[in-house]
Amino acid sequence: SASRKFLVGGNWKCNLTKAAISDLVSAFNAASPLDPTAVEVVIAPPAIYLDSTRQILRDDFAISAQNVWVSAGGAYTGELDATMISDVGGDWTILGHSERRHHPVLKESDATIAEKAKYALETAGLNVMYCIGELLEERQSGNTVAVCERQLAALAATVSDWSKIVIAYEPVWAIGTGEVATPEQAEEVHFAVRKWLEKNVGKGVAEATRILYGGSVSPANCEELAKKGNIDGFLVGGASMQPSFLEIVDSYK
Ligand code: G3P
Repeated sequence: SASRKFLVGGNWKCNLTKAAISDLVSAFNAASPLDPTAVEVVIAPPAIYLDSTRQILRDDFAISAQNVWVSAGGAYTGELDATMISDVGGDWTILGHSERRHHPVLKESDATIAEKAKYALETAGLNVMYCIGELLEERQSGNTVAVCERQLAALAATVSDWSKIVIAYEPVWAIGTGEVATPEQAEEVHFAVRKWLEKNVGKGVAEATRILYGGSVSPANCEELAKKGNIDGFLVGGASMQPSFLEIVDSYK
C-alpha cells in the first residue's frame, strides 16, 4: 500500500563465501540509488560476514543478522549478542525463521523468539523482521491463520512498541521449494494478520506495520504479488543471491 514503505529483505541463510559476497555486492553497488521515500532494502549475510559485508555494501542497503541470542552476551558459546550487530553497523535482525522454529536441533519456541525480539528491540535498538507461517499440514488442516495468530500473540504479549517490527509471512511449504503462494493465498493471510493486529494491538499499528511475503519469490513472480494491497514487500532467500534481486527490489514500481 502507498502509505507503507516497500521493504525487500535478502536472507542469504548459511550460504556464500567472502569472494562470492564481493562479486554480488559489486553488482548491487553498480545499480542506481534507491528512492528512499519508496523502498528499503535489508541484506542478511551469515553472521561471520556481517561486518565485512557492511564495509563494502552501498550505504542505502541496510544490514541484518539472521538470528540473535535472547539476552546480553557473556558465557554463551557460539551465540551472538544483538548489540554486536549495531556495533558493526547492522540495523536489523531476522527472528523466528521457520528454519529455526522447526529444525529438530534448534526447535525455537514462540516464547524464546519473543524474548529475543524484546532484547533486540528494547536493548539493542535493532529493527526486527519477525517471521511467521504455517507448515503444509497446518494449511491442509485449515489452521493457517490460527498458527500465524499464535505466533503473533507470543510477540504481542512481550513487546509494546511496534514501530521497529516488520512481519514476514513465510508459508513453510513455499520456502526454497519453487512453489510460491499465489497472490490470492498470500493476500488472504496478510489481510488476516492485519485484522489481528487491529483487534489485538491497535488500528494505528495495523495500518503502519509492513507485512512481507517470503517463499520462492523471484523476478518472475514478484510483480503480481507486489500488486496486492496488504503485501508490503518481500523476504527473499535464493533469489537474493543473484544480481537480478534488484528486479525484486524494483517490483513496487
Ligand atoms: O527468509 C527467506 C526465505 O525463507 C525464503 O527463501 O529461497 O524460498 O526465497 P526462498
